[in-house]
Amino acid sequence: MNNIYLVGFMGSGKSTVGKLISQKLGYKFVDIDKEVEKQEDITIKEIFERFGEQYFRNVEKEKLKEFIDKSGYVVSTGGGLGADKEMMDLMKSSGIVIWIDASLDKILKRCQNDTDRPLLKLPYEKIKDLYEKRREVYKLANIYIHTDDKSPLQIFEEIQRKLKR
Ligand code: S3P
Repeated sequence: MNNIYLVGFMGSGKSTVGKLISQKLGYKFVDIDKEVEKQEDITIKEIFERFGEQYFRNVEKEKLKEFIDKSGYVVSTGGGLGADKEMMDLMKSSGIVIWIDASLDKILKRCQNDTDRPLLKLPYEKIKDLYEKRREVYKLANIYIHTDDKSPLQIFEEIQRKLKR
């Protein structure tokens, strides 16, 4: 197996679970959002404000592509990357893609004080629409995990069982 990619909607817990998987399996951990912020030397919120969403989308795709030929990484992706069919295909060609799913209710509760994610400022109906549309691509992942009411360790154990199949 080359890399393990985690996809799913904002606030579904990809980074928390990703760090745990990497520790337990001895993989390196990378968060594409963090890598983009490091490269651009500003926050994602500022990238959206100053350069617009499309600029961010291009940078995050280029960043992801840097890891496609590498191996031994758990790669946590921003919610938009796993919803891009081309990126999904690319990730599947270089490893295992895991959809970390959570209900929209849980996500919104978890992120209610979040000021860092520009898309969470959209009206509820727009967020719901995005959530539904993105599922059409997330569902192409190799492994599905529903995370509501599960601890990170329980989620890891479920992933481990499914990886062995
Ligand atoms: C986005 C999700 C964020 C981040 C950016 C855009 C999205 O990452 O990439 O705010 O389009 O869903 P997380 O999924 O890690 O929150």
